[in-house]
Amino acid sequence: MSDFKPSKVLIIGGTGTIGSYITSSLLSTSSPKPYSTFTLLTRPGWDSSSSSSDPSSKKAKLITHWQSQGLRVLTGDVASLSPSAFTHLFDENNFDTIISCLGRATLQYQPKIIDAAEQSTSVQWFLPSEFGTDVEHNADSAREPTHVGKLALRKHIREHVSRLKVTYVVTGPYFDMWLYPTPGCEQAGGFNIEGKKAYVVQNEKGEVGRVGFCTMWDVGKFVTATLRHPAQSFGKALKVQSFVVNPQDVLKEFEKQTGSKFDVTYTTVDEIKNLENVLWDKNSDKPQPKPQATPVTLRRIWATGGTLYDKDDNDVLEVKKEDLDTLEDGVRRYLAGGYKAETFGVEA
Ligand SMILES: NC(=O)c1ccc[n+]([C@@H]2O[C@H](COP(=O)([O-])OP(=O)(O)OC[C@H]3O[C@@H](n4cnc5c(N)ncnc54)[C@H](OP(=O)(O)O)[C@@H]3O)[C@@H](O)[C@H]2O)c1
Repeated sequence: MSDFKPSKVLIIGGTGTIGSYITSSLLSTSSPKPYSTFTLLTRPGWDSSSSSSDPSSKKAKLITHWQSQGLRVLTGDVASLSPSAFTHLFDENNFDTIISCLGRATLQYQPKIIDAAEQSTSVQWFLPSEFGTDVEHNADSAREPTHVGKLALRKHIREHVSRLKVTYVVTGPYFDMWLYPTPGCEQAGGFNIEGKKAYVVQNEKGEVGRVGFCTMWDVGKFVTATLRHPAQSFGKALKVQSFVVNPQDVLKEFEKQTGSKFDVTYTTVDEIKNLENVLWDKNSDKPQPKPQATPVTLRRIWATGGTLYDKDDNDVLEVKKEDLDTLEDGVRRYLAGGYKAETFGVEA
């Protein structure tokens, strides 16, 4: 396996929020590309052969554009495909590398996909859907309600996978998304450009701590770099980062680029923890968490050191600082419409 190079690569969830950046990055990377063929597994109904589809939809346009760049497309629904159907799909197409970008709502299907890959004769390498917070950062990580699904998958992999190589790409928060305050819970962090307001969370010491970020385009670059470094990545949780900055630095950059003063609201970590108790409905016998529970907990983890390391793994992937976005780039992109305006080269 030390001389393994990915050849037939399959991406699952590659049209999603972060999957779109990863797919775009892998398609546009310079030659030699880290694959011979690159295939997307997407749910049926996206193209003109389906009566229920809308060919003018953003997804249909995106996939058609990517096909013109060489992407192959297979249809299938991860919810209904059985493990044996997955194994058949992998072996029939000779896929050797699988990247999963499934979202939180479909993470529960990953164990069966991993089991199917382990059973297959072709798949050698699996990158599960991580691309976020380090779920094994410290002893407290195991108690975080936001980490349950990803920790369960890591346990499943430790207990059931022996043949496959696995790599987790841990990116921390996407700077592009972190900038948007969580609606209804703005005090948990972010920037409101129209209102010229900044929301900053203080850590346990009452200080504003540094946070390690990845921009969404850099997540794509790091996954592409991972595919170029199989032997260095096997069996690892790679911690990769675009830049590590203090939210006060972000504020200064906003004030510089907009030429306006922002009104800043500071929130203590205890206030955030109290808010979390309400959002997770912790005092109820049958808790019914609110949609803001996950983002607010993640923002508390990020504000209190959950993204900081003595050293990141950027150099393992030979990714240099000059190849990555800067704080200035991230703020400029947000002011130009943010990740919500990305079209990946397709006319909107
Ligand atoms: N670091 C951060 O700040 C951050 C932020 C957000 C997410 N994340 C992480 O990034 C990873 C991917 O999350 P995401 O938000 O990018 O994913 P997402 O957009 O919610 O979904 C990804 C894709 O999953 C596919 N899918 C397959 N079956 C599905 C089903 N039954 N229902 C819905 N989607 C289905 C869809 O692709 P098709 O339509 O092509 O089938 C969809 O585009 C997760 O691990 C998440 O935790 C990190």
